[in-house]
Amino acid sequence: MDGDVPAKNAAPRSDAEAENGKRAVALEDLPGVGPTTADKLREAGYTDLMELAVASPGDVAEAAEIGTQVALHIIQEARRQADVGSFELGTQLLERRKKLGRITSNSKALDELLGGGIETQAITEFAGEFGSGKTQLAHQIAVDVQSPVAQGGLAGEVVYIDTESTFRPERIVDMAQGIGVDPQETLSRIHVARAFNSNHQMLLVGKAQELARARPVRLIIVDSLTAHFRAEYTGRAELAPRQQLLNKHLHELLRFADAYNAAVVMTNQVSSRPDVLFGDPTRPIGGNIVAHAATYRVYLRKSKPPRRIARLIDSPNLPEGEAVFSVTGEGIRD
Ligand code: GTP
Ligand code: MG
Repeated sequence: MDGDVPAKNAAPRSDAEAENGKRAVALEDLPGVGPTTADKLREAGYTDLMELAVASPGDVAEAAEIGTQVALHIIQEARRQADVGSFELGTQLLERRKKLGRITSNSKALDELLGGGIETQAITEFAGEFGSGKTQLAHQIAVDVQSPVAQGGLAGEVVYIDTESTFRPERIVDMAQGIGVDPQETLSRIHVARAFNSNHQMLLVGKAQELARARPVRLIIVDSLTAHFRAEYTGRAELAPRQQLLNKHLHELLRFADAYNAAVVMTNQVSSRPDVLFGDPTRPIGGNIVAHAATYRVYLRKSKPPRRIARLIDSPNLPEGEAVFSVTGEGIRD
């Protein structure tokens, strides 16, 4: 990922420590970047070359209060130094995909639906109406990711971005006890941040990056992705800016997933479609932007309590299908 360590030979990405070593070149080392610009960039969340290399000139110009041309030049230089190849060979991609990790949801059926669990280097979206189990699943996965690999985890820590104030440490205690692990230790590996608005929510991804440099964060949860955006951008005229920001947010999440071989789990509400007469009259919020960004899109609906039905509605490599799981006092079960 940087000058002398081409991505193809990079050490296993499974380890945040390994990433640290490869991210040593300072922004100030780039031609045209003085201390002031470097500070502004860092404040805006561009803390290393890789993050700059994949940024858009417009965003960088705005963040550093410089011209677009200068921004473009800085980005090109960052790309050169970070050795971001334009093309990756199929063999390299396969190699990268071999490092994919998977996190159990604690339901065999749901894991199978997802091809073996929640995948790293990808975004998994759980969409569904209120009470369909999105937040409960998010809690469960935050517990399960901490387990050793042999037990369906990634021995990792969690960043939990809570936009609806529905994170409950008590539920984590229930679920930790449910799988026989220490509740206090489990809680101590979940870094929870309450997002006050959409802007703050986006900033928190940058904070998560900072954290991931010091801690083995392998999962980032956003519950819910869309609630703030939906509440703040209400009028028709605000739809375009809302979608643009959502797009940026999603790409920052995906970048996090790639950089730290981490899983991104996000929840989403559904809105009703009065125009649909047959079939399910609801659909996830966020339109095409969210639909395209989500690698795996799982639609949840309530069934006979405590059961829930999960349907995989969009996946690049898995068949569509359904799975039934339950939300119990101890957490997610088959
Ligand atoms: P919204 O955020 O409102 O859109 O819903 P959600 O999809 O996040 O729903 P959530 O995951 O919060 O699911 C709530 C449901 O989980 C409740 O209706 C209960 O059925 C179940 N649940 C939540 N907490 C407990 C608990 O402590 N014990 C048991 N047995 N079930 C619980
Ligand atoms: Mg919820």
